[in-house]
Amino acid sequence: MKFYFIGMIGILFAVCFGQCVTRNNVSYNLPEAMLPHVKQEYLSRCEKGKILYDINCAGCHNTKVKGKIVIPDFTPEQLKGYELRITNARHSETLTDTTVTEEELGIIMTFLTYKKKSNK
Ligand code: HEC
Repeated sequence: MKFYFIGMIGILFAVCFGQCVTRNNVSYNLPEAMLPHVKQEYLSRCEKGKILYDINCAGCHNTKVKGKIVIPDFTPEQLKGYELRITNARHSETLTDTTVTEEELGIIMTFLTYKKKSNK
């Protein structure tokens, strides 16, 4: 009975707070309440972010599981702003202000934030 209740809350949460939209084989979880034209804006920003991610981040972060490319599910705490450039040595070398601009980094963060989790 207890598990049934938790399950129902999970389903309700998924229905009310997330809506999955798929484009170019990547699925995104955008808030249900988002207006259609805003959704379009977020989707094109996410698509741009996917391209920038593939160029600047995928080489170090993507993994392959059974031949399928897996993009990591970073937590919201891990998706930082400027700090990402300096929190580890590999980033200090590669994510400089000249290799990835501030605007590009922001777009990549949007992509990683709304990308559907790989394990679901
Ligand atoms: C040269 C290799 C390399 C590149 C390129 C790279 N990273 Fe990383 N990244 C690392 C390493 C190494 C770590 C630390 C260990 C780990 O979490 O895998 C890390 C950690 C992270 C973390 C976790 C941070 C934390 O504090 O827990 C995030 C988020 C991240 N990278 C995002 C990115 C994004 C976004 C890009 C592209 C703009 C990128 N990385 C490009 C190597 C790289």
